[in-house]
Amino acid sequence: MWGIIATWRMALEGVSESAPQLAAGSAASTAVVDAVAAVEDFPFYKSVGYGGLPTENGEVELDAAFMDGDTLAFGAVGNLIDIANPVRVAQALSRQRYNSLLVGQGAREWALEQGFSDKAMLTERAMQHYRKRCRETLDKGLSPYDGHDTVGIIGLDKQGSMSVATSTSGLFMKKRGRIGDSPIMGSGFYCDSETGAATATGVGEDLMKGCTSYEIVRRMAGGMTPQQAADSVVFELEDKLMSRFGRVGDLSVVCMNRHGEFGAATNIKTFTFVVATEKQPLTVYLAERHREQTCYQPVDEAWMQAYAARIRAPIEE
Ligand code: GLY
Repeated sequence: MWGIIATWRMALEGVSESAPQLAAGSAASTAVVDAVAAVEDFPFYKSVGYGGLPTENGEVELDAAFMDGDTLAFGAVGNLIDIANPVRVAQALSRQRYNSLLVGQGAREWALEQGFSDKAMLTERAMQHYRKRCRETLDKGLSPYDGHDTVGIIGLDKQGSMSVATSTSGLFMKKRGRIGDSPIMGSGFYCDSETGAATATGVGEDLMKGCTSYEIVRRMAGGMTPQQAADSVVFELEDKLMSRFGRVGDLSVVCMNRHGEFGAATNIKTFTFVVATEKQPLTVYLAERHREQTCYQPVDEAWMQAYAARIRAPIEE
């Protein structure tokens, strides 16, 4: 059995390249890292990699992670500036015995020493969003925070190995140095080839409160189906935060077990995910909550066209 599942429609192009490779016997680690790198390289995705939205200081600080479910080795970077593919740096770190999570200047220096490319990651389009948001915040008193769509991709290969990778520019207008859940093992991602893997997207500050990805994998190990594990973790965390913290942000997850069965859960209106397995052709799903359960259906052609137009639409400054 092989399979691949990813958060958000933005993963479609990367997943459509990696799925046939998994079908042909490629390693899950290569499949997920290549698919995430494709999202990082695409300038119109404004929450990941090149073209990602900046901090309040106008700098793009990127977070990414990789975990190998066979060895439990992981590597992660936080606040990485101007390196082309943070996910590849994270994968390289997973091969080190120590220093698995590097942040800021140390992460950048290590990446450059290892031969990773220096690349200016702030685009003119991202700066247009930034200037617009600064003005709206001043004029209309709007909250500056927004835009935390992380790409998280889980792969299962024919050898039974699983891997997960994540990448994000984090919260738009975040403070310099802020890190969300995406490079934090157990929160933004977790993978154990003997059970399965999970990855999260949404408000990192809230996803971290539930150690969300680890908790999903733990429940799958305890016998839950991926869908039961995903729904129960998301909606229990939502209830807990509402009653004890008084508010809750966006929480969305995808997961897959070692048999290639998958699940997705969300507490927001529009969460999309992409999946392909040996049993299921490549599909983009639109997930919606129905009380404490998530339902999903394939998006239609009109939705895909509207999406393509939306991500390239001019920004009215
Ligand atoms: N989930 C991404 C972040 O909060 O940075």
